[in-house]
Amino acid sequence: MRVAVTGAGGRLGTALTKALNAAPFVGDVVAWDLPEHDLDDPVSAERLVSLHRPDVVVHTAAWTDVDGCAREPAVAMRRNGTAVGEMATACVNVGSALVMVSTNEVFDGRRTDGRPYQPTDQTNPPNPYGIAKLAGEHAARAAYLAAGDEFVSAALRPGLPGSAATALAIVRTAWLFGPPGIDFPQKIVAAAEKALAAGQTLNLVSDEVGCPTYAPDLAEAIVSLIAEWHRPGGRGLGGIHHIVNTGHASRAEWARQVLALAGIEVDTNDVPLGTWPRPSTPPAWGVLEPTPLPGGPLRSWQDAVAEHMTVLNRSQEIGR
Ligand SMILES: NC(=O)c1ccc[n+]([C@@H]2O[C@H](COP(=O)([O-])OP(=O)(O)OC[C@H]3O[C@@H](n4cnc5c(N)ncnc54)[C@H](OP(=O)(O)O)[C@@H]3O)[C@@H](O)[C@H]2O)c1
Repeated sequence: MRVAVTGAGGRLGTALTKALNAAPFVGDVVAWDLPEHDLDDPVSAERLVSLHRPDVVVHTAAWTDVDGCAREPAVAMRRNGTAVGEMATACVNVGSALVMVSTNEVFDGRRTDGRPYQPTDQTNPPNPYGIAKLAGEHAARAAYLAAGDEFVSAALRPGLPGSAATALAIVRTAWLFGPPGIDFPQKIVAAAEKALAAGQTLNLVSDEVGCPTYAPDLAEAIVSLIAEWHRPGGRGLGGIHHIVNTGHASRAEWARQVLALAGIEVDTNDVPLGTWPRPSTPPAWGVLEPTPLPGGPLRSWQDAVAEHMTVLNRSQEIGR
């Protein structure tokens, strides 16, 4: 099986490319990123998909700068909405399956009943990033619907094992952390060290709640979805999937766990989200209900953060 990954150099794309390369049922991993895959170029997806004809495309590429998206909503719509429709159409044209990665920010987060969002819950994005990502979901669904295949296996494709068929999966996730780049745990460690050096208290946001999700865990889950699709008699990959590490936390709870694991003792103070006005408004309650996965639920976010911090602490020791 040939699997293509967009945004291959990003946080999820890096983990996914690694996980796919290790998957025995995947013969060929095609990594796409800028400049050859450009979300600003309307023919980029069609050109790459028709050239490589992958069996599955996992579309992780996006403009993830939520404040940038709020400042330039038209660019956000182009990259995170329109470009997804172009990718979906390109996939439908050659009979490829598509896994589109989306976000918890399609929900407004105003819920106060403590219930996590399910795939069937009403969407209502609170910011231009979420609006564009939801437009991308709709565009992908429209492309597969036009081909008679929305969330159901249809249009049997010769040459693939079992009952493999074109299919669309939308994978919503939240609060990704892990290499490469500076993620939330690393930002908190840096902010705590700065506060300690200045003799100050570290302010932590306590009223924004979400599901910290380790990119390598999400990558493994996406690989297991694709494996299930590939398995003769498997149940296919179509549908909206909420894939996050188990449990939820406020930013403050997440930060405190990071600080404890990093061995940093700093005075902290809980503050509301509005303490730092910013162009984008995140959902206050951005908690997703995980959907059942072929490999079972992901481990707790605490266990995933513990593994990540072990790796980070070790790399800092080596760097000293
Ligand atoms: N990060 C989160 O907390 C989070 C939460 C929920 C959902 N998601 C979704 O999960 C997916 C992966 O997120 P991530 O954290 O891995 O993002 P990321 O680290 O920002 O990676 C995004 C990837 O997209 C590429 N990209 C950006 N602009 C592009 C353009 N104009 N044309 C082509 N490629 C472009 C980036 O390339 P360069 O590095 O070269 O710019 C990068 O490889 C995204 O779809 C995102 O919306 C993320």
